[in-house]
Amino acid sequence: MSEKTPFYITTPIYYPSGNPHIGHCYSTIACDCVARMKRMQGYDVMFLTGTDEHGQKIEKKAAEEGMTPKEYVDGIVANFKKLWSTLGISYDRYIRTTDDYHIESVQKIFRKLYDNGYIYKSEYKGKYCTPCESFWTESQLVDGKCPDCGREVTDASEEAYFFKLSEFAPKLKELLLDEEKDFLNPKSRVNEMINNFIEPGLQDLCVSRTSFKWGIPVDFDEGHIVYVWIDALSNYITALGYLNDKYNDYDKYWPADMHVMAKEIVRFHSLIWPAILMALGEPLPKKVYGHGWITFGDGGKMSKSKGNVVDPFILSERYGVDSLRYHLLREMVFGSDCPYSNEQMFTRYNSDLANDLGNLVSRTVAMIEKYFGGTLPADKDFSDSDEELLSMTDELPAFVDDTFSTLRFSEGLEKIFRVIARANKYIDENEPWILAKDEEKKGRLAAVLYNLLDTVRRCAILLTPVMPHICPEIFEQIGADESATTWEASKVRHALKADVTVHKGRVLFPRIDIEKELEELEAMNKPQRELPAEPIKEITEFDNFAKLDLRAVKVLSCERVPKSDKLLKFIVDDGFGERQVLSGIAKYYEPEQLVGKTLGMIINLAPRKMMGLESNGMIMSVRDGDKFRVVEFGDDIKAGADIS
Ligand code: MSP
Repeated sequence: MSEKTPFYITTPIYYPSGNPHIGHCYSTIACDCVARMKRMQGYDVMFLTGTDEHGQKIEKKAAEEGMTPKEYVDGIVANFKKLWSTLGISYDRYIRTTDDYHIESVQKIFRKLYDNGYIYKSEYKGKYCTPCESFWTESQLVDGKCPDCGREVTDASEEAYFFKLSEFAPKLKELLLDEEKDFLNPKSRVNEMINNFIEPGLQDLCVSRTSFKWGIPVDFDEGHIVYVWIDALSNYITALGYLNDKYNDYDKYWPADMHVMAKEIVRFHSLIWPAILMALGEPLPKKVYGHGWITFGDGGKMSKSKGNVVDPFILSERYGVDSLRYHLLREMVFGSDCPYSNEQMFTRYNSDLANDLGNLVSRTVAMIEKYFGGTLPADKDFSDSDEELLSMTDELPAFVDDTFSTLRFSEGLEKIFRVIARANKYIDENEPWILAKDEEKKGRLAAVLYNLLDTVRRCAILLTPVMPHICPEIFEQIGADESATTWEASKVRHALKADVTVHKGRVLFPRIDIEKELEELEAMNKPQRELPAEPIKEITEFDNFAKLDLRAVKVLSCERVPKSDKLLKFIVDDGFGERQVLSGIAKYYEPEQLVGKTLGMIINLAPRKMMGLESNGMIMSVRDGDKFRVVEFGDDIKAGADIS
């Protein structure tokens, strides 16, 4: 038996300085899709992701929260892992730069670079902010002041180690221009690297700091901390066991087949990282891919600080993990930025997934049940007119392989969905409902339905890396056994059993009511109602007021709603029984504070779902600028007492 070919793919290791957001999801889902496809194709895949946990920013954040840096990152790393598990990310290894084996390797790497003569000690000169204990370069300053605190900076210098990056300029240029190696994609980034960095002259790189502590110490010079990018980039080899005993996979998987990231860190991966490897005498990664950003509104990179984060937990819970994966991969054109929009996601979902794919599967399965009791007869009457659909499908596997392997998912997916649309048209052309009326045409009817099933089968194989949860359900519905769902089987026509039996299942992609969903998502973003624009609302009849049933209720239990920063879930006694109600006040109260309290509530509002949970009523509250309180009564007021 021949050995499987190794395939090593990596995401960037993310900063756990804040919780993961949808931007991080893109790179990770893209890598997951490639990793899954390569596994299906028979490669021995190593898919690495992780977190880059050192540095001054994290040290500061932790201090602000009153925690040690390690306590702080532990909490955020747990959220990264939870998100990856929610999204079905099939990583093989997760590296944390705070792992002991990584620290040990980085110290050895630093020493090796020093011993090889590529690191030397010198003076670091820059602008120094004393309160922040931070050095800044001229270009990092904002209006000549510290970008963090806005205070004055002074010229200062400190002893530091430098890496001889400048020495590698000619070799790096050669690497980037080597057409056969095709090292960096998209090609526009090659020009950017050469024109913006190599041509103006590469400077040696300062690779140690003495102004903060949260990092890996240089083990031969106390007080020096290894620059965070040397620490971070090394993860790609330390995670395989380079200069440590934790793993023994370096010879097998290195050099990496693909490093994937967004454009802002391409410079580190296509200049600094290869130079470090050259200095270590190690082979270079085969490919670096720098995709664009998912942007939001104003075209900027999505960030927590702009308050424009779309919660991937909420999106995947409400619309399905696979829909979110499909949306991100389908919309982002490799190399360009892609604005995120929920509306765009719903529109695409309704047209591609609900209308085209979902309908094709359900119509085909339903017709086989209706006309043949669920099992197709072995005798079929194929026709030359089937050829167009079949040969379009024949072209897919090679095209999808090529596009997915080079992060051009949108192109690959577009072509798969063109075949799916063609299959829907094939139904209209062949009019199975007319064929079914004529006993003599049963063979033809069986052939048409079989071709449809087989097209679904082949498309679903190719969609499996993108939608790994739904495709197995499709296989189940169309009666495809395991041998008919392998990557190889996607290249073969008519791999389903001639007398295949289908199994009608649930609706795979229920249509989304776009307006309603947009409204509900919007409501989640607003924990409380806005103050009315006018000072006083218009006069209303007493009857309108009387329609509201306002009561005192006792809070029996209260807890946070998982995955929501805003919602609390209450069980209250309304004097008649127990009811569940949700309220977007988690920012203002700890659940324990409210248990046992007697609150004001509108109990006859129509039930409403939030985060999949039903809310029956509304807890009354008052807002005054920043102040926010629930309407509360004393203990002596009974549950069910009428408020008027
Ligand atoms: N820790 C460094 C990377 C070290 S790799 C040796 C870092 N971390 S980060 O948390 O800032 O992650 C940056 C990466 O996250 C981007 O390169 C990209 O892969 C992903 N993304 C974060 N926000 C993104 C978007 N808005 N859009 C697309 N990808 C984004 O840099």
